[in-house]
Amino acid sequence: MSAVQIAPAILCYTKEELAHRVAAVPDAHTLHIDIMDGKFVNNTTIGTDVLAEFHFPPDKEIEYHLMVADPIKFIEALPGGKNSIFEVHIESVDERQMAGLQKLVAKKGSRLAWVVNPPTMLDKLEKHLAGVEHVLLMTVNPGWAGQSYISDVEEKMRALRAHHPHLTIEIDGGVGPTTIPRAIKAGANRFAAASAVFGQKDPNAALQGIIRLANERKK
Ligand code: DX5
Ligand code: ZN
Repeated sequence: MSAVQIAPAILCYTKEELAHRVAAVPDAHTLHIDIMDGKFVNNTTIGTDVLAEFHFPPDKEIEYHLMVADPIKFIEALPGGKNSIFEVHIESVDERQMAGLQKLVAKKGSRLAWVVNPPTMLDKLEKHLAGVEHVLLMTVNPGWAGQSYISDVEEKMRALRAHHPHLTIEIDGGVGPTTIPRAIKAGANRFAAASAVFGQKDPNAALQGIIRLANERKK
């Protein structure tokens, strides 16, 4: 299996904060951008107006984590291209929309990933996994950074890994040096982390430390 990816998670409210955080993690391969609309979750972050104009470093992969009630509207407004991955909550779409989303994202030259909240079962997912970049299992209820890792989600990591040995399984929420080893054991191989990176004095050094730890554990 290829290297474990750690995506620094950026949950912010202004263009300045976004620029500051992007600049703080030059070694990130992927940036995880949290987008909330105040409807799907009870918080509102930076929106498509700022993101559509923002110049991310061209070598970065960007995963847009869409915690929004109308993901189609957001995908249409966000920049596409091969570096963009749109992460869509299966709770925000019905099965017909799930099929249509694959086409919409492909048209933008981008990739699609499904996100599953802690209480949501995996049944809806199985029929729509073909062609999908990865699955993100939330290990907190979305809305805020700095919450505690919900270890019960490891059951879903194990179940998904058992059925899909080659699938990339990302987790998001409470990810850090103590939770990464147990999540890897349960089957996760991609991580989004906010506090464990940006809550540290030197975010880039913290990121390097987590990348090292995760790749040692994976062996
Ligand atoms: C939660 C967001 C997460 C969050 C992670 O709603 O989707 O990406 O920023 O924050 P930490 O790593 O602090 O749990
Ligand atoms: Zn997120």
